[in-house]
Amino acid sequence: MLRTRSTATEIMDDARQTEAAFRTALRNLEWLTRVTFGYRPTLRFLDRVVAETGVRSLSILDVGAGGGDMLRRISRWGERRGIALTLTGCDLSPWAERHARQAGTPGEWITGDVFTLPRERRFDIILCSLFTHHLPDPALVRFLQLIDERATRGWFVSDLHRHWLAWGGLWLLVRVTFMDPMVRHDSTVSVARGFVGADWDAALAAAGIRAERRWQFPFRWSVAVLR
Ligand SMILES: C[S@@+](CC[C@H](N)C(=O)[O-])C[C@H]1O[C@@H](n2cnc3c(N)ncnc32)[C@H](O)[C@@H]1O
Repeated sequence: MLRTRSTATEIMDDARQTEAAFRTALRNLEWLTRVTFGYRPTLRFLDRVVAETGVRSLSILDVGAGGGDMLRRISRWGERRGIALTLTGCDLSPWAERHARQAGTPGEWITGDVFTLPRERRFDIILCSLFTHHLPDPALVRFLQLIDERATRGWFVSDLHRHWLAWGGLWLLVRVTFMDPMVRHDSTVSVARGFVGADWDAALAAAGIRAERRWQFPFRWSVAVLR
């Protein structure tokens, strides 16, 4: 069943959903990310950026930023370490910005498709978490090329490992915690749309990019470039 990436659609990507449903899903997604240690790989990457480059200021773009929860954690990370940050979130959903702002997300927000970002926009670091599984393979290759071109210091992608244990674990978790219907449906679809290591190797080869791929506990892959 999970041999290849699924092409099943997520409710989250359906433009007919309501703001209330989308925002409930974002709240639940934030909880799920927290209890599955989903922020840690990205924050550790930022620690590495600072340790290896010695920079004291960074501009950072979070693609598919959802409710802005990663950006809020990055903002606190920067405050603790004395790193001056210029933060930008980008999300296709018309509801994401309001949710992110009301939750206190700082910085600029772009509501739109990442593929329509102006060509001249550059960031020190481009990040995304749980975004790439929304893309079919050809768009994933274009996305990798886009971030590799626009991120001057490096980029970091974090997304789900397509594995039956992750699928089964999430299926159970979203039911015992009475998650909303969108998250109940999309969580296992997301795992099925997720990746095994060979998928990343193929996408990177097709994009002509050399990057570092790491497995992240409990069920994620990260793919990164640090220049
Ligand atoms: C599963 S959510 C992840 C949200 C957040 N990064 C997190 O980890 O909780 C994926 C997000 O990507 C956004 N998205 C999907 N396609 C997009 C695109 N082409 N450009 C920008 N955002 C997109 C969706 O609106 C959604 O908010």
